Amino acid sequence: MIEQNLLPFRFEIFEAKTCRDTCNAIKNMTVRGAGAIGAAAAYAMAQAVMTSGSPEEIEKARNEIKSTRPTAQNLFYAVERVYTAAKKAGFSAKAAAEEASTIANAEVEAGRKIGELGEPLIRDGANVLTHCNAGWLAFVDHGSALAPVYLAKERGKQVFVYADETRPRGQGARLTAWELSNANIPHAIIADGAGAHFMSKGKVDLVIVGADRIAANGDTANKIGTLDKAIVASEFGIPFYVAAPSYTIDTGCRDGASIPIEERAEDEILYQTGMTEAGEMMKVRVSDPGSKAINPAFDVTPAKYITGIITEKAIIMAAPEDIKRIAG
Ligand code: MRU
Repeated sequence: MIEQNLLPFRFEIFEAKTCRDTCNAIKNMTVRGAGAIGAAAAYAMAQAVMTSGSPEEIEKARNEIKSTRPTAQNLFYAVERVYTAAKKAGFSAKAAAEEASTIANAEVEAGRKIGELGEPLIRDGANVLTHCNAGWLAFVDHGSALAPVYLAKERGKQVFVYADETRPRGQGARLTAWELSNANIPHAIIADGAGAHFMSKGKVDLVIVGADRIAANGDTANKIGTLDKAIVASEFGIPFYVAAPSYTIDTGCRDGASIPIEERAEDEILYQTGMTEAGEMMKVRVSDPGSKAINPAFDVTPAKYITGIITEKAIIMAAPEDIKRIAG
């Protein structure tokens, strides 16, 4: 997997040789983004089946993988699929590995279709605002929120992207901006607080974000800072789309209040990591040494602020009837 903690400064591949390696990579965000986490978790489950000596060990690994990050539904979906397929085949390593590959390949196809369905929403000359990173780094190929943008560019449309910086970990400033630079898509990184300014000035035509989990009523968990963009977009009449594969929908969660929200280490806020001019990665304190921080990694956007959810099957309204039809 790509070591995302080093981007955009250095491109390195991290080889996760064991289930434990893969779990650590998910926890420390070497791999991140709901789709990529799901695919990694699928392979972690397959790794566990390949090396475990007993069903009890496999069960233990299954729980360990599921405890790595709590919010992204794709992780739980992928682990359960691989576990079930392997169990049905008498905990066959081959069956587990094949199911993990099937999940990864299906994700490529889901991203492609999300691109196809979402692209017509982007008119020639459009300005799109996105939050966090929901591009190909967050998936296996294509991505979700950025898939329509890539396709619009491929089809010759002019598109400009406002990439929210996305503090504290800077997925927008580091990862989305890196993806867009590589694709030659005109863009600017903006401070997390600047979205309302640009929206109030009529500079944003639509907002597209990804999702970590979508509840049965359409409430959507995504990176912290998504909620305020949705409220502001609604205030200024700007369409706000969520792009995600249908398996990001968790019908077991009635509404957003039931979605578990990950709390991450306060150091992510108190310190920042970057690269010095000498090419060394360096962590520096950027806050008052006597202060503490609180770091929820996600927030929940109520369905009423969401114009539509772009899935691989259809663009649906964030309404329970539609969600039920498309889930799974
Ligand atoms: O904490 P991260 O970087 O894994 O969070 C990622 C996001 O919130 C993305 O917007 C989300 O996963 C949707 S794109 C797969």
